[in-house]
Amino acid sequence: MPRSVHNFVPVISIFFAAILCIFQLSACLKIGETCSMDDNKCDGGLRCGTCPASGNTRPRCIRIQPVSPISKVNGLPFNRYSWLTTHNSFALSGSKSPTGSPILGPANQEDDVASQLRNGVRGLMLDMYDFNNDIWMCHSFGGRCYNITAYQPAMNVLGEIQKFLEANPTEIVTIFIEDYVTSAGGLTKVFNASGLSRYMFPLSRMPRDGGDWPTITDMVAQNQRLVVFTSKSAKEASEGIAFEWSFVVENKYGNDGKTPGSCVSRSESSPMNTTNRRLVLQNYFSTNPNVTGACIDNSAPLIAMTNTCQIAAGGRWPNYIAVDFYQRSDGGGAAEAVDEANGHLTCGFECDIWDMRYPGSFASTTSTVAARWF
Ligand SMILES: *[C@@H]1O[C@H](CO)[C@@H](O)[C@H](O)[C@H]1NC(C)=O
Ligand SMILES: *[C@@H]1O[C@H](CO)[C@@H](O)[C@H](O)[C@H]1NC(C)=O
Ligand SMILES: *[C@@H]1O[C@H](CO)[C@@H](O)[C@H](O)[C@H]1NC(C)=O
Ligand SMILES: *[C@@H]1O[C@H](CO)[C@@H](O)[C@H](O)[C@H]1NC(C)=O
Repeated sequence: MPRSVHNFVPVISIFFAAILCIFQLSACLKIGETCSMDDNKCDGGLRCGTCPASGNTRPRCIRIQPVSPISKVNGLPFNRYSWLTTHNSFALSGSKSPTGSPILGPANQEDDVASQLRNGVRGLMLDMYDFNNDIWMCHSFGGRCYNITAYQPAMNVLGEIQKFLEANPTEIVTIFIEDYVTSAGGLTKVFNASGLSRYMFPLSRMPRDGGDWPTITDMVAQNQRLVVFTSKSAKEASEGIAFEWSFVVENKYGNDGKTPGSCVSRSESSPMNTTNRRLVLQNYFSTNPNVTGACIDNSAPLIAMTNTCQIAAGGRWPNYIAVDFYQRSDGGGAAEAVDEANGHLTCGFECDIWDMRYPGSFASTTSTVAARWF
């Protein structure tokens, strides 16, 4: 489409959105505008929220979705994009274990993986265990899953991912398995059963020398749209599943990863500036999941840490930004941090970050996703 038409379509859409809004037929509130917590009248990609922990008690529309980087710049190598990533994506507040037991300990997210994917989350951190003769997602201890730590069978979540990949043939998703599975072929069995195996990006195509990954165009064309990493190195030989720290550097997680001005690799990872690990993952969340504190964590301190980690990683912006309660923030949130990383990654040294007022969020192409929140 010529540039002029490209700009014109959103203008028309915004015009009609405004008409609908005047007659209260649809959402209409922009980022930062006062909203009501009872009826979400915020535009697509936003939700009504407060952040009492930072003194912000006026309900206002805050961002929950990053801008789709592919809608901005398509066809670059996979390592030239940044993805919103949820820590313990499966651990939902208010969950009851299907075993009938209450779940011990706090959750990390507030909506299920299907909803996270709709909101533009593309990195999922999943803890997998042998349990009840099957593979389960558990938030457990000592390498074993118990009724009180068993969130759900892995099939449930993997099935949601399968449905998403099937319905969205140009989207790419990454899974980071915190792997406690010891049963032979256990992961392969559950990936086979969920229908995900056929989307897996092959280990043999992952660059080990610091070179670029294949382009997203190529990954989409070959339908290799699921990147899977495990925390267990032995799974490369036994099941052909990539050992995360052969390909990714990752900073410390929990409170150790929140020291302002410091971005040091976690013990399993090579130093952040190890450039033959082409992908960079930035963790930023508390040791104890804290739903009231997350709106602070996911705001200015997250952006500050993104800058710190970028320098520590040898001038490389994070490909994954992993947070708890990804929808919580003081305004722009984790979505804004991801946009910022994408602006740098996709533009390289040639241009500054995107003009984020341009539409193209995952939710809707009709709403203007104003990105900067000051
Ligand atoms: C765990 O839950 C199962 C039901 O799924 C039950 O049969 C079993 O007794 C429970 N185990 C314990 C230790 O509570
Ligand atoms: C997974 O599926 C592949 C292809 O259908 C098959 O060759 C393999 O044996 C299966 N593995 C397991 C552990 O089920
Ligand atoms: C990588 O970072 C370490 C600090 O973690 C530093 O000592 C080292 O010089 C850096 N290496 C390069 C090549 O920049
Ligand atoms: C959660 O975050 C709030 C706001 O920063 C803080 O006051 C509170 O102490 C935190 N709670 C825990 C258990 O760390």
